[in-house]
Amino acid sequence: MNYVRKIREDLYWVGGNDRRIALFENAYPVPSGMAYNSYLLLDDKNVLFDTTDRAVSENYQKNVASVLNGKPLDYLVVHHMEPDHCWAVGEMMEYYPQMKVVCTAAAMKMIGQFFDVENLKDRVMIVAEGDTLNTGHHELTFVTAPMVHWPEVMVTYDATTKTLFSADAFGSFGAINGNLYADEVDYEKDWLENSRRYYANIVGKYGVQVQALLKKAAGLDIQLVCPLHGLLWRENIGWLVEKYNLWSTYTPEEKGVVIAYASIYGNTETAANMLAGMLAERGVRNVQVFDVSATHDSYILSAAFRFSHLVFASITYNNGIFTNMENLLHHIAAHNLQNRTVGFIENGTWAPTSGKQMRQIIEPLKNMTILEQMPSLKSAVKEEQYQQLEAMADAIVAGM
Ligand code: FEO
Repeated sequence: MNYVRKIREDLYWVGGNDRRIALFENAYPVPSGMAYNSYLLLDDKNVLFDTTDRAVSENYQKNVASVLNGKPLDYLVVHHMEPDHCWAVGEMMEYYPQMKVVCTAAAMKMIGQFFDVENLKDRVMIVAEGDTLNTGHHELTFVTAPMVHWPEVMVTYDATTKTLFSADAFGSFGAINGNLYADEVDYEKDWLENSRRYYANIVGKYGVQVQALLKKAAGLDIQLVCPLHGLLWRENIGWLVEKYNLWSTYTPEEKGVVIAYASIYGNTETAANMLAGMLAERGVRNVQVFDVSATHDSYILSAAFRFSHLVFASITYNNGIFTNMENLLHHIAAHNLQNRTVGFIENGTWAPTSGKQMRQIIEPLKNMTILEQMPSLKSAVKEEQYQQLEAMADAIVAGM
């Protein structure tokens, strides 16, 4: 017996969950695991939507075979050629020699790069924006979505059932724990952070392209969203779209302050804690403090996508920024974050220069308001720096 899930009479989830994975893309911690979704439509012509990651591929092959139950596999729609979804494409082309791969021209090129397929062009049906495929009872329309999150990406709209197969869009970190639909769980409590962290880190750089996809999707009547990761959406889809709208326009979800600090012996940490306390005393309720040496960048980037104000506090290290903080700031810049108010706190026992250097990384980003108040410590917080921290707290609150 295989673990597959029936979505409708003719549509099955045939993907897999990986709870042993430590780092998604060998970069992002996923303590709650990862789901690789693949869908199989049984119609006059049978269609598989994407494959999975290698980690779950053994069961995956069995899942597909068990749902087909001897029927032919006519088409494999490849939305995205990143190997967390395409790992089994080569195998599927080998196991199902009559099957046509349906994908964009750019995806076909990538199939040739990843796999050795004889007569590749004869095995592929190239589709472009608006092309359709009738499978019998279903009319599939292909919609390109370049850079969400690679250039070859497309999504598929099934006009018959008003289903959007959305590729990486609307996905999330986290394995699926039985409940397949977002409306079956407490999404805000148990999934939103995973969803936001996935978006910020995986797709966050491509806000303009996500906006383009949202505009195309706005013209469709969508009653079910089937992403390649995380849960499926059949209710309250507008809520998720609004989150994507905020994230992809780099608009804060909430007023609040993220304080990320790099500290070796605790003095910069004390300054960060003091500022957090001062903000709380001034009535700010959303304050999140992170030690950049203890918390992975991906969580802090996610918080930065959520909140309106950011403060970075770093020691000066080898005349530069402390390494973990420097990595975080470059991570934020690489993901195109915009529209935030940002402050810096520096420390350096003999020559504090980290504030200026941190500012140089963040200031070029679009619509960043840089606080002029920059507490400058020379080892520990003294009365002068305490006053500077109070001035910074006042400026943050005044601008909220
Ligand atoms: Fe889930 Fe961009 O791959």
